[in-house]
Amino acid sequence: MKTQLLTQRDIDAAAAILREGGLVAIPTETVYGLGADALNPAAVARIFEAKGRPQDNPLILHIPEVSWLERYCRNIPPAAYALAERFWPGPLTMVLPRRSNVPNVVTCGLDTVGIRCPNHPAFLAVLRALDRPVAAPSGNLSGRPSPTCAAHMVEDMDGRIEAIMDGGPCGVGVESTIVDLTTPIPRLLRPGGLPLEALREVLGEVAVDRAVNAPLAAGEKPRAPGMKYRHYAPKAPVTVVAGDSRRTARYILRRIGERTGVICFDEYVSDFQGCTVEAIGSAKDVGEQARRLFDALRAFDATEVDVIFAQCPGDAGLGLAVANRLKKAAGFQIVDLGEGERT
Ligand code: TXA
Ligand code: MG
Repeated sequence: MKTQLLTQRDIDAAAAILREGGLVAIPTETVYGLGADALNPAAVARIFEAKGRPQDNPLILHIPEVSWLERYCRNIPPAAYALAERFWPGPLTMVLPRRSNVPNVVTCGLDTVGIRCPNHPAFLAVLRALDRPVAAPSGNLSGRPSPTCAAHMVEDMDGRIEAIMDGGPCGVGVESTIVDLTTPIPRLLRPGGLPLEALREVLGEVAVDRAVNAPLAAGEKPRAPGMKYRHYAPKAPVTVVAGDSRRTARYILRRIGERTGVICFDEYVSDFQGCTVEAIGSAKDVGEQARRLFDALRAFDATEVDVIFAQCPGDAGLGLAVANRLKKAAGFQIVDLGEGERT
């Protein structure tokens, strides 16, 4: 298949492809999505095929405005409206009871649906032109880091889908925050572009699903099915080194060999001369780290490194999402040096 490259102005062309059952990679503020008409089960099934995605991992339904929530969800709690009012369009996915018009192939048979209104003018325009919701997972091949620019999309999906819309680099860089609103206490299923602290400002108590910080035990079922899969991982094994950044830099420095890759904060790049280094932004700027992380993880696959060490931010703000993606890329292989000045 020849994959067409579209610009952000090609709204009608993108909508036409979707209307005919085709797949289009569409930019969002978080990461690029691989979109299909959500109400066309055959089109949605092609998403799983193109990504090599397991059949039990449901897709997020994208809508252009909060008034569409009732079309696809039922028993919507006031908290959902409060969140939408404050954070939509934006990097927040809510899990709610679904209506029966949402095809089974979207939710993988669950009686809930993950739904979000993305904050990207081109995606919103496509939704309005199509006048239907778009089902879209992140546009990567299953298991790879999510795409944060059109070049990543081409890398993974050229020849597999009808079109890729180039919207430039994504402003957030990690996927949306997922909160389950079907439980008595709202539950964070995946940290993402909206900080947990912001959710708590609106919701009060928010539980954090165990899968966010720890590997699953054998046979354990996560509440967001996608959290159980190996993800984001470069080919070389990753070790996350958590704690005070000066200490983690020293720890890594003592362990580097000829084919060691390092993911580090900008302040430490010069310490690692001679190894393959991907800087992800200042230690003080988790927003920048979020924007650059997936590109850094992808970059190692074009190198000869056979082991990767990564510095890791703390859990405040977007740090929780960055740390979660790093830990998942590492298969939860983590060395925690703690905070403080001790050497
Ligand atoms: O930022 C994002 O959320 C991007 C852009 C394209 O919107 N999308 C994205 O989709 O990251 P995906 O498919 O890569 O991740 C969706 C996650 C998966 O872990 C999936 O298991 C979970 O959401 N999920 C979807 N529907 C769910 C549901 N009804 N209940 C629990 N988890 C759900
Ligand atoms: Mg994904």
